[in-house]
Amino acid sequence: MSDNGQELAAGQLRHWQSTYTARPGMYGEQPSAPAVHAAAVFRAAGARDVLELGAGQGRDALFLAREGFTVQATDFSAHGLEQLRAAARAQHVDERVTTAVHDVREPLPLPDATVDAVFAHMLLCMALTTEEIHGLVDEVRRVLRPGGVFVYTVRHTGDAHYGAGTAHGDGVYEHGGFAVHFFDRDLVDALAEDWALEEVHAFDEGDLPRRLWRVTQARPR
Ligand SMILES: C[S@@+](CC[C@H](N)C(=O)[O-])C[C@H]1O[C@@H](n2cnc3c(N)ncnc32)[C@H](O)[C@@H]1O
Repeated sequence: MSDNGQELAAGQLRHWQSTYTARPGMYGEQPSAPAVHAAAVFRAAGARDVLELGAGQGRDALFLAREGFTVQATDFSAHGLEQLRAAARAQHVDERVTTAVHDVREPLPLPDATVDAVFAHMLLCMALTTEEIHGLVDEVRRVLRPGGVFVYTVRHTGDAHYGAGTAHGDGVYEHGGFAVHFFDRDLVDALAEDWALEEVHAFDEGDLPRRLWRVTQARPR
């Protein structure tokens, strides 16, 4: 990124914290379509525990817990995770949900080969450099058990906001205070190197609409 990446990241953390404080339930209480799909994929793979990255206020972590998975939900926004924990208690799934404040630019706080599945909806396309995204996917691979599945979604270069707003370099554009790294297909393929790439599915979400890819890849046994 052409700007100071640390400054952009710190600004994004402040922005997510204040957004979640101002807008409880900003993504609604229903699970996202990718989470519903991921639950079916994870169940078919025999997964029991799921690590969610960028869980935010928890619409998907809570759904996965209601579906019977044990969920470790992480995000760099403590405010989002506080709301997630309160909702987990209200829904009586708090025994199956743990939270950890974690910035994905740091190594994942888990030992090697200790989770069955990883889910990340619109997290890899945050204000991360290409190098940081590669580092994160290497970390996901490290913590997954052999045969474990990773389902992630990202906004891509077909999105209406691609190229709009403030350009930060390395595919990152900031619009309305939110910085997004718009993925191209080469990046998706590069991140699947040494994985079994099972699916790249295009879909829309929201009113804009956001244009996304849902990617499913497995760590080979
Ligand atoms: C677009 S929101 C999606 C939230 C949630 N996955 C959902 O769909 O409801 C992106 C989330 O990623 C989090 N995030 C952004 N950058 C992050 C980082 N470097 N480390 C950890 N979380 C981050 C934000 O706080 C926010 O909760």
